[in-house]
Amino acid sequence: MSAYTINPMTSHGTGAEIRGLDLSRPVDPEVKKRVNDDFAKHHVLIFRDQKLDSHQFAAAGEIFGPLMSHHHKDIRAGHPEVYEVRNVEVAPGKYHIQGGSFHTDHSNHPCPPRATVLHTVSLPRSGGDTQFVNMHLAYEDLPETTKRRIGGLKAVHAFESRYSPRKLRPLDEEGRKQLPPPALHPLVRVHPDNGRKFLYLNPVRIDAIIGMTDEDALALVAELMAHATQKKYEYRHKWVMGDMVIWDDRSVMHQANPDYDMKELRHLYRIMIQDDPKHWVAEGEKTLAAAAA
Ligand SMILES: [Fe+2]
Repeated sequence: MSAYTINPMTSHGTGAEIRGLDLSRPVDPEVKKRVNDDFAKHHVLIFRDQKLDSHQFAAAGEIFGPLMSHHHKDIRAGHPEVYEVRNVEVAPGKYHIQGGSFHTDHSNHPCPPRATVLHTVSLPRSGGDTQFVNMHLAYEDLPETTKRRIGGLKAVHAFESRYSPRKLRPLDEEGRKQLPPPALHPLVRVHPDNGRKFLYLNPVRIDAIIGMTDEDALALVAELMAHATQKKYEYRHKWVMGDMVIWDDRSVMHQANPDYDMKELRHLYRIMIQDDPKHWVAEGEKTLAAAAA
């Protein structure tokens, strides 16, 4: 068995760094089990010193499960499921930066991803950190009255909420064709791998909460977001060339930082890992269209 060392990155158990593992080669089943166990415990894993082409990167992601397709179909990096993240100049001096407010990926899908993975291709000299907040800790710290208030609530997640704090890049035609109808997800879920409850929030996509006025739903989401994004729940990742970072899209939210020199290229490969639909369907979650039928 190829050994590796693991070092926690925070005192609250969010994020851990792994050294001594070369992901350009297949890992044996024992290592695969160990990294998946570590992932359920730490929610964000940082694999240092990797140098992966897009196919090796896709294969490394499959240690955590089959890959999930991105809803944007137009930015591929030599592999059908490897998407590229880069600071793109959309007009002279104007850049589109993805993920610039706290969110979780693709929550408008009936079965959102288990995880997202990034790997460095090119980094700016400074800035461009990714922040993660632990949604287990955020839930566990809520007052009991709030836990009771939100326990049975379900949110409607659309591709882009009418109230999204930022504008998303429009989908191309193929992406539009494959877009699922808005999905219903509980605000509080149980993590299938570690059994802990977590808050499932995404202001970019939450368009309504069933049984609430939009005004009350927005106020509740804002209150929960203010609580969940406190520094005490955060791991802030400073990127180093060679990093491959995987995060759990259920137990953490994340945000990108457009605080670097936009003339410098920030370029990463990105993939998502499928979740098991039974984890979502078992909780009575379904698409709005199915609920209305
Ligand atoms: Fe994201």
